[in-house]
Amino acid sequence: MAQAVKETEDKFGNYWPRNILILFGPPGAGKGTHGPKIEDLLGVPQLSTGDMLRAAVAAKTEVGKKAEAIMKAGGLVSDEIVVGIIRDRIQEPDCRFGFILDGFPRTLKQARALDAMLAKEGASVTKVVELQVPDSVLEERICGRWIHKGSGRSYHIKYAPPKSMKLDASGQPIPETMKDDETGEPLMQRKDDTSTALVKRLQGYHKETVPILDHYKPSGVVRTVNANQQMDGVWKEVLEALQRPKSA
Ligand code: AP5
Repeated sequence: MAQAVKETEDKFGNYWPRNILILFGPPGAGKGTHGPKIEDLLGVPQLSTGDMLRAAVAAKTEVGKKAEAIMKAGGLVSDEIVVGIIRDRIQEPDCRFGFILDGFPRTLKQARALDAMLAKEGASVTKVVELQVPDSVLEERICGRWIHKGSGRSYHIKYAPPKSMKLDASGQPIPETMKDDETGEPLMQRKDDTSTALVKRLQGYHKETVPILDHYKPSGVVRTVNANQQMDGVWKEVLEALQRPKSA
């Protein structure tokens, strides 16, 4: 049985084009919330350029040194850097059936570079799932977010609090009580999760990133999800967006 499964997997891994899903949306839309669930569902990895860049900053690599100040202020890191990171990452064995892109592409130049990379192997973007949320609700989401660094798990003081959270007399979370549900390790807040940096991140999103939707719409791969509702409702719509239409 195991041998038959391996042979089938090898056929898909060697002969069929990879499935490439783009998880699209503004900062705080829910890419990091729903990405891991799609990863579990489809068995392909979620590649977050934000997480990769934060790892480079923490490790003080050359890329990290170039990216640190730009990220803290909410700007975009250069296309050359992120395209290079993705080009290397998608060669890894865990990407052989496909991958989920989170936070990439973010400019038309990155989208065209991705298309060119995929065209070389006869593949193309299979689906773009756009999480649509009005700017007005994003500040509360971003400023209330806490993250588990090791896994990328995302929490929110109001919408997805960790089990350990305790509040002080003024109703604010006590930082020492913010711990990951699974590991018990401390949670942290991102340096760019401030209202000031968010203004810049949203400007960049509307000016540089949104035009990518028009780039992919003619291929019929774009699906829009209302991400301005409770998480369960968003997940239900994401599942619908991922499914092949019954008539196909
Ligand atoms: P990146 O890490 O990609 O950040 P981002 O795109 O700004 O996205 P976020 O991670 O902030 O949002 P999310 O959609 O994942 O939200 P989440 O699910 O956690 O990029 C960071 C920086 O890196 C960039 O600014 C740039 O400098 C650089 N960079 C990265 N990629 C680059 C590229 N390709 N080119 C150039 N530069 C690049 O949700 C947010 C919060 O809301 C959570 O607390 C969550 O619990 C809560 N929440 C989620 N859904 C709901 C809901 N339905 N209702 C209520 N609360 C919810």
